[in-house]
Amino acid sequence: MCGIIGINSSKPVSATIINSLKKLEYRGYDSAGIATLYDGSINEIKSEGRVDNLEKSSLVKNMEGTVGIGHVRWATHGLPNSINAHPHSSQNVSVVHNGIIENSTLLKKFLVGKGHKFKSQTDTEVIVHLITENLKTENIVDSIKKTLKSLHGSFALGIIFKDEPDLIVGARRGSPLAVGYGPNENYLGSDSYALKSMTNKITYLNDGEFCIIKKDHVEFFSEDGTKINKKVLELSSEEEKYDKGDFKHFMAKEIEEQPITLKNGIKEYIDTSNNDINIHNFPWKINEISSVTLIGCGTAYHSCLMAKYWFEELTSLDVNIDIASEFRYRKNRFKKDTLYVFVSQSGETADTYAALDLCIKNNMKTCAVVNVIESSIARDSEFVLPIHCGTEIGVASTKAFLGQILILYILALKLGSLKKDIEKKTFIEKINDLKELPKLIEKTLSLDNKIQAVSSTFNEAKGSMFLGRGFSFPIALEGALKLKELSYIHAEGYPAGEMKHGPLALIEEGMPVVVLAPRDDYYKKTISNMQEVIARGAKVLLITNKSKDEIVSENIWETIEVETTNEDLFPFLLTIPLQKLAYYSALKKGFDIDKPRNLAKSVTVE
Ligand code: F6R
Repeated sequence: MCGIIGINSSKPVSATIINSLKKLEYRGYDSAGIATLYDGSINEIKSEGRVDNLEKSSLVKNMEGTVGIGHVRWATHGLPNSINAHPHSSQNVSVVHNGIIENSTLLKKFLVGKGHKFKSQTDTEVIVHLITENLKTENIVDSIKKTLKSLHGSFALGIIFKDEPDLIVGARRGSPLAVGYGPNENYLGSDSYALKSMTNKITYLNDGEFCIIKKDHVEFFSEDGTKINKKVLELSSEEEKYDKGDFKHFMAKEIEEQPITLKNGIKEYIDTSNNDINIHNFPWKINEISSVTLIGCGTAYHSCLMAKYWFEELTSLDVNIDIASEFRYRKNRFKKDTLYVFVSQSGETADTYAALDLCIKNNMKTCAVVNVIESSIARDSEFVLPIHCGTEIGVASTKAFLGQILILYILALKLGSLKKDIEKKTFIEKINDLKELPKLIEKTLSLDNKIQAVSSTFNEAKGSMFLGRGFSFPIALEGALKLKELSYIHAEGYPAGEMKHGPLALIEEGMPVVVLAPRDDYYKKTISNMQEVIARGAKVLLITNKSKDEIVSENIWETIEVETTNEDLFPFLLTIPLQKLAYYSALKKGFDIDKPRNLAKSVTVE
């Protein structure tokens, strides 16, 4: 992951670098650092933990220099401490890096042999020493070209040089990097978001390219060192304001914003007056598509799994789903009549991007379902369906998940209707139900007290399970993931029908088990599976929907009832109590809810 920033200006840069690093903290928050050129030398200040720690340092307050680079780290090689924090510097060169250098051990051996001394345990430090070594015989452009050639793996780099007081080098392979243009100053950043308070004029580097940023102009080079021209894009200059309002955490705010996420999505894609779906400029004819492959990571993968159930119900298309980190290395049989859909909140997830890139290289049809429309995945996909849920700050995805599954549901409905797999009457009924969904979500959001009360039991347990069948199974996986990542409690999501094939052995007296059983086609089967876990001592939290029919089971520990809707839409409602369960459980434990340990919001390393 990691976030990088560089500024070449005629004014002091350290305060602006710190502000930009705060915006990049979603990429990593293990440690942070800054280096500037001043008085003919490189000054470097680094600290463990958040950017706040770095900002508090009196050294940073007094830091001089009009050319500088900064970094927030998500550790890959070496402990998250101030020695391993970036920038890494020799006497002549200072580097910030996002990515992984796969041949760092070999390179280090070579460089140590040449007399270079290493201070950290990071892979990044080899880049510093390689450039330093190459500068002995080459000019800046050739030393960069030669260095990049020696590196295996992925990187976005920001580099400054003691002897070059008007220059920052940026270079990219795999990890994203953007250049920004300001008045008599220019910038480098992991993304346009970090640069937004300074400029909306942006150029994105492509794989293999590097650039030289001077105060008054920027030069771009291809991998072989040939000068190239690149487009300057003008992005929206509106800067979103992020504050928690009256909420304690961004996650709490984002959970409550979900009715708006759904309203935005419905407004964008549903033609309410004609009861139709607007997907404008869809680039393919419907008879060119006979299967869909949905690809994502983590929560976004759960969205893909959710969509599989809907696509199978609503269309005659063959549906495959894949975890991006698996897809990218498998021997895939690419098919011309397959639509490849990439699901991602950030649009920068390295594995999802690599899977997209593979499809592009094989001339496949590619469609992105993303939140960040300026992201790499959105830019490089043939067609984009934005989620429109606004910036998501909490590391645990909540509103983006609901946004993703909404768009995927709408896509399934649209393709089903174009393929004439759904009757017009059913299509209209489903659209009408969808229009009611934001209100139902609002009602579900008010089920707070019970969830707060049960969360203590989850905190006291050694582990927990989340069970569901059919449409509820992907939600069980998502509920377990949320609890794990926020409360650090072991939680497993399982298809309820699979329990007796092994996991039932885990159930012991008092173990909390969430059972998702709305009154859909799977209800009776799930209730039978619930009875099996109750019989073995589990404390079952049943999440079902309101109904006049009594639940025919004894010894249920607690029941939460969501609103009633058509069975396709229960997953939206079931998600809410699970997000809240994870939130309250982490709150009671006093954990850092918006920035859980070991994680980052945008996973830009594989
Ligand atoms: C979990 C979570 C992650 C992300 C995953 C993919 O709450 O947020 O599992 O879903 O890292 O990220 P995106 O959606 O940005 O590709």
